[in-house]
Amino acid sequence: MAKRPSAFACRDCGDTFLKWAGRCPSCGEMNSIAEISAADAAVAAKSAVQTRAAASLASESLESVTQATVPRFATGMAELDRVLGGGLPVGAAVLIGGEPGIGKSTLLAQVAGAVARTHPVLYATAEESTSQVRDRCHRLGITGGALRLVATGDALALAGALVSGDHKLVVVDSIQLLTRSGIDGEPGGVSQIRACAATLVEAAKRSGTALVLVGHVTKDGSLAGPRLLEHLVDTVLSFEGDRYADLRVLRAVKNRFGSTNEIGLFRMGGEGLVEVADPGGVFIADRDASVPGSCIVPTVEGNRCLLVEVQALVNSTDSPQPQRRVSGCDRDRVAMILAVLSRRLRLPLGQADVFVNVTGGAHLNEPAADLAIALAVASAWREVAVPADLCAIGEVGLGGELRPGPRYELRAAEARRLGFQRLLGPGPGAGRGRLVHTRLADAIDAAL
Ligand code: TYD
Ligand code: MG
Repeated sequence: MAKRPSAFACRDCGDTFLKWAGRCPSCGEMNSIAEISAADAAVAAKSAVQTRAAASLASESLESVTQATVPRFATGMAELDRVLGGGLPVGAAVLIGGEPGIGKSTLLAQVAGAVARTHPVLYATAEESTSQVRDRCHRLGITGGALRLVATGDALALAGALVSGDHKLVVVDSIQLLTRSGIDGEPGGVSQIRACAATLVEAAKRSGTALVLVGHVTKDGSLAGPRLLEHLVDTVLSFEGDRYADLRVLRAVKNRFGSTNEIGLFRMGGEGLVEVADPGGVFIADRDASVPGSCIVPTVEGNRCLLVEVQALVNSTDSPQPQRRVSGCDRDRVAMILAVLSRRLRLPLGQADVFVNVTGGAHLNEPAADLAIALAVASAWREVAVPADLCAIGEVGLGGELRPGPRYELRAAEARRLGFQRLLGPGPGAGRGRLVHTRLADAIDAAL
């Protein structure tokens, strides 16, 4: 009998190979490839077809979204509905990832409780006992309704519950602890995660039941087995925050039913998660404006304007390779801004370590935040604080020119509402409190 060829799979992306390699050729992860059994290899090959099928389905669904044909229902949490793009679509599969203890189970218990006031909901836990879930629900003030609990890790049984069509929403906490019989491998392994997720997603689609899966993230912040799950589900949400502070941010990493621009804001309190009612200034609540190296930018997330603080620290160094540490914004964008500051404004940043940080767990992904980043760095370098009532908006070009970002009036209005009397940027228009400059050098001189 011919010898079966051996097979190898990457623990991270799930791709399969005929040969072992130290670095995964698909995702680049080191030491993630291990040999898998012949049965696993057969499943992997089959799942790859399913994954491709699901991926080709994506473009179709996006088409149908523009025609607004996907029926949705409200989850009872407006911030979640906002991130989903206007409620949970019927038959949608949503993956929500986050670090342990961040509040995933709390969020989903609250959602399950809210939906169960009007529709039947199943909350399946593979991590806790039903009495633990009941205790949490009681602490959160969730009682009775049409909420049913089950403690199981059996993916086929859960698929059966989905296919029955008895529930509007099924929550599964968590995908990493499910097992599907007939599939080799440990729960949480590539074969099991893929087989369980594919089985549940298919059952959800077939019955029009909304499915929410909880996924744990690994230490480096990525969802375990991220890429293989991303292809299978419609929407990937990330629940973030500092578990020792109360602010929580919900972002869409992928959203087949809406944009990935909107974020949801919550506070974790004694009675669970509370939606942040007036989010505009939530990220700058703890700001100390007297310290040099801090600048506020009115940033647009979806349809809302949020004020965000950029901090910079600049330290002279003799090292031939000065450090560049960036958190909360794009490293390459910061490198470009530092280059413009060095070249056009003659800031000697080549002999300085530069640290740039966006406070409060906010992310700055828009070029319109460039001017605030540049101003924070210049302020740190000159050791002169940016005036407390000034915020900055504008995109920096390689020539040192400034361009206005989109939604300028929305930003200006929100900044003014939150007490910022001066708005620094390239325009448009000269209004009350507008410091209009179209060159970075002039804008920085005006501010400092
Ligand atoms: P949990 O939802 O269990 O997190 P995850 O499922 O993401 O692991 O939340 C755990 C934390 O939330 C825990 O440290 C306790 C805290 N918590 C509150 O502060 N208030 C509450 O009402 C609840 C239910 C939890
Ligand atoms: Mg949990």
